[in-house]
Amino acid sequence: MGWACESEEPFPTLDELDQLRSLHSLSSHPRLDATNKVDGLPVAQELGHDLFKDPGLSRCGTVSCDSCHSGDGRTVDTATAEGCGGQRTERNPPTVLNVRHNRWFMWDGRADSLWSQAILPLTNPVEMDSDAEVVRARLQAEESYRTRYQTLFGVEPSGVAAPVLMANVGKLMAAYERVLMQVDAPFDTDVKRFIAAAEAGSAEGDPAYLGLKTFVRKGQCIVCHKGPSLTDELFHNVGLEDRGPGAGGQWAVLNALLDWEFNASSRHSDDPNGADALRLRTLRSQAKQEELEGAFRTPSLRNVALTAPYMHTGAQASLEEVVDFYNDGGNPEGSFTGKRTVTIVPLELTDAEKRALVELLKSLTGTPR
Ligand code: HEC
Ligand code: HEC
Repeated sequence: MGWACESEEPFPTLDELDQLRSLHSLSSHPRLDATNKVDGLPVAQELGHDLFKDPGLSRCGTVSCDSCHSGDGRTVDTATAEGCGGQRTERNPPTVLNVRHNRWFMWDGRADSLWSQAILPLTNPVEMDSDAEVVRARLQAEESYRTRYQTLFGVEPSGVAAPVLMANVGKLMAAYERVLMQVDAPFDTDVKRFIAAAEAGSAEGDPAYLGLKTFVRKGQCIVCHKGPSLTDELFHNVGLEDRGPGAGGQWAVLNALLDWEFNASSRHSDDPNGADALRLRTLRSQAKQEELEGAFRTPSLRNVALTAPYMHTGAQASLEEVVDFYNDGGNPEGSFTGKRTVTIVPLELTDAEKRALVELLKSLTGTPR
């Protein structure tokens, strides 16, 4: 292990400095979604807000989107969440904060737009257990829903086919989720100050030194948690124990997404030949089973201190446990599906390095807007 001590290069190298430069200043104004024609319209945002909070869209009448995506972290504080009839979700609900910056949605990426994502919980029997008839009845019953819907889509909810109605309701939800941004965090200030210190040759004296060094170098976190959202927007098998029906991860949902009637290249998309549809085609041509089996989306780490428990299974109660998981090189072989990616190996972090990583993760909580 001598190589890691005396001969170690000073941190950061020029390459590492470039990686650090990518990490700060996430925009609080994500670009408009071309596949969603009502995105950015104030009326759509307001109607989406009201629908997001309305349990009347569920068949049981008691579950709204907000039931599982509320509080500071816009999620629940248990490993799984409760839907209609007391049923439990299979996975841990991710936050909807900053979700507009995602390129893929759901832990396994089975939705490629935010509006189509919303159709999944609406129709999932363990979540809202709904369908177009329940949704239509609710929209028709409330005059303020009916008139705003007509203003936006040119026709009353009663006048459209079932799939069009579901797509439009999804587009309203997504228009609302656009404003759920929580960006500027102490982390951004730390990274900018640290870069200036490094450029001035005094990196080692900076309070963020050990956390950033461990995140970038010994912990290898930045291999996947990069860019201003701290995600590569890709899928990896980190070797997390999962014996549930969805343990196959992205590989298991790939064909369903490519054939899905609501994907970004479908007739319900408002830009079926645009960049988002192209991304889907790229996925079709480049998918490799050994990379996608048991692989889950790299989540953003912004606001992560607000969203315990962690991972798609919700198995880890605290950020300390997450760091221990990585330090151990993941869960034992045989406890998860597929092949663990080569980056995940035992890290041999010191206690000080572990603490510095946890501090770094905690500094990612943004200011509510
Ligand atoms: C019963 C709890 C529950 C309800 C109700 C619910 N969700 Fe979720 N939500 C989840 C779970 C669990 C996941 C992760 C599912 C998965 O990855 O398989 C999720 C994932 C998401 C995601 C993806 C986030 C990401 O980073 O990929 C978004 C966006 C979202 N939900 C929005 C909504 C909207 C909009 C509604 C209402 C139409 C809704 N949710 C209703 C539990 C719920
Ligand atoms: C090979 C890519 C990769 C590397 C390297 C990596 N991560 Fe992750 N990270 C992921 C993926 C993928 C997930 C989701 C895994 C799952 O749920 O199956 C994740 C999940 C997390 C979560 C949970 C977030 C949440 O909302 O539940 C935290 C925190 C985290 N990583 C921090 C780190 C830290 C700290 C390091 C470095 C020690 C690191 N990661 C290294 C890909 C990576």
